[in-house]
Amino acid sequence: MCGIIGGIYQNNITPILIDGLKYLEYRGYDSAGLVVLTNDNVLQRVRAIGKVVNLENNINSEIINGTIGIAHTRWATHGKPSTKNAHPHICNDSIGVVHNGIIENFLELKAQQQAQNYIFTSDTDTEVIGHAIHQALKKYGTLLKAVQSAITTFQGAYSLGVISPQNPGHIVIARSGSPLIIGLGDNGNFIASDQVALISITKQFIFLEEGDVADITKDSVIIFDKNNIKVEREIKISKLKNWQTSKGNYAHYMQKEIFEQPQAISDTLESRITKDKVLTLAFGHKAEIIFKKIKHVQIIACGTSYNAGLVAKYWIEDIAKIPTHIEVSSEYRYRNPIVLDNTLFITISQSGETADTLEALRVVKKINKNIHSLTICNNSESSLIRESELIFLTHAGPEISVASTKAFTTQLVSLALLSVTLGKCQQQISQTQEKVIVNGLNHLPSLVAKALEQEDQIIELANTFKDKFNALFIGRGSMHAIAMEGALKLKELSYIHAEAYPAGELKHGPIALIDKNTPVIAVAPNDELLDKLKSNLQEVKSRGSQMIVFEEESSKVTPMQDMNILSITNNLGRITAPIIFTIPLQLLSYHVALIKGTNVDQPRNLAKSVTVE
Ligand code: G6P
Repeated sequence: MCGIIGGIYQNNITPILIDGLKYLEYRGYDSAGLVVLTNDNVLQRVRAIGKVVNLENNINSEIINGTIGIAHTRWATHGKPSTKNAHPHICNDSIGVVHNGIIENFLELKAQQQAQNYIFTSDTDTEVIGHAIHQALKKYGTLLKAVQSAITTFQGAYSLGVISPQNPGHIVIARSGSPLIIGLGDNGNFIASDQVALISITKQFIFLEEGDVADITKDSVIIFDKNNIKVEREIKISKLKNWQTSKGNYAHYMQKEIFEQPQAISDTLESRITKDKVLTLAFGHKAEIIFKKIKHVQIIACGTSYNAGLVAKYWIEDIAKIPTHIEVSSEYRYRNPIVLDNTLFITISQSGETADTLEALRVVKKINKNIHSLTICNNSESSLIRESELIFLTHAGPEISVASTKAFTTQLVSLALLSVTLGKCQQQISQTQEKVIVNGLNHLPSLVAKALEQEDQIIELANTFKDKFNALFIGRGSMHAIAMEGALKLKELSYIHAEAYPAGELKHGPIALIDKNTPVIAVAPNDELLDKLKSNLQEVKSRGSQMIVFEEESSKVTPMQDMNILSITNNLGRITAPIIFTIPLQLLSYHVALIKGTNVDQPRNLAKSVTVE
């Protein structure tokens, strides 16, 4: 994920670009740059490694002045963080381009362009965009037509901002799979990846739709759809006031972070899927070669991240057919594990600094040099990111509450993308199967938003726990892992002793715990194990427990005495169900904690990031 800002203004655009980049740093900050078109009609560029402030310091010494400009803050996908890989990229002094996303077929395009004597000065996939537009500009004469033509050759996901001295007075932008908005001002027009970057300049925004291309001047905005037909897009007035990591209107960070999940999930999906496929390059340019030869998967994590890994075990074996093991880091690192060649060693961590997980990675690299490591992590600056061969960032944004919520669901989303990608590389999944899963992923943000609407009903259910000291969570298949996460959340937040069991295992011990003082919480999607789960519910009920069942509407669990059934939604699949059923369990724990009067955001004895053993 990278951040783009640009504009055509009546005065020098540079301060607006720098200010906007600072708001976009949450999207990446390993390097930053900008290019302006000067009054002499020359592209003038400055780039710097690291945070935007470094760029700002460079600019003070160079005097960059122009009314048209584009800028970028980068999170590296192709090519390590360096000045030469920072955006904007310039082709033949005539095209300046900023890009967010991945051009999947860049190697193929690069080879064609090299044959035509185009020079490459970076390791990025972005330069092929500049060269393709340069080539098209010679043929079509206007930047708009050049961009419309060039993008037909791109595969992948991208948003682009382009300027050229050959067509001064214009910025042309394109959106396909990565967000881009237009801000309409009194003294100019602007573009950005996110409205937060422009909110101090304007409140009027146009949100581009998939496939849109727009030709922007200081006084006009003309938009074309994916068929190059001129279209009108609605102008929306933003209500956004400020951008901070404050609690806003929420009582606690945890509540805010629970409600941020639709956005966090869509940010995590951004630029990594199209409408029908997952982009393998999202895992880095070495991923395809590595994923093709993987024969085993070993997942290592702690706490909530472990529960995400447990769901992934079901997905990877089911979709990619690769034997997958999972273990908590603190055990794995000390037990002299056998590590087979061609193992994909996956660490999952919100912080990227959990000592046991980091040490497990170091240990395994010593045991067998023929493994490949991948980390799924929410902190781009962390040790796990630095020490792993492949990296995949969850884009949950900062998570302040100690109890993890949006970090968990974005880990699940990332692991779903991984499962499909492994399945493709191992030739275990057809295009049609991939399309079905991707369709479900594309609907996730709205499904999560719908599940969040049930908060009022969950507040009522939370009362069940007012005078309780024990609870049991049950589920089957991957929903067993979701039951574990539900139990972990309840004990972390409300200090109620909670256990999770695979529902089929109840009869082998835990059923002895059940009485009217031990509520049982079950998660019941309409999957192939539903009938088995229904039998388990009968077993529990006949022991006199109070029950809460979160069901998919079509599951139609038979109502019984002392049983509350809450229908969550419908048409869930093996990927969407675990993610959606997490939501009511998070809300339940949150509201039970409120009833119990515990410290919601900082539960006793816990830390957000455990960097010691
Ligand atoms: C701590 C936190 C948990 C987290 C676990 C693993 O115990 O309280 O919320 O799941 O660490 O942290 P990680 O950063 O590796 O995901």
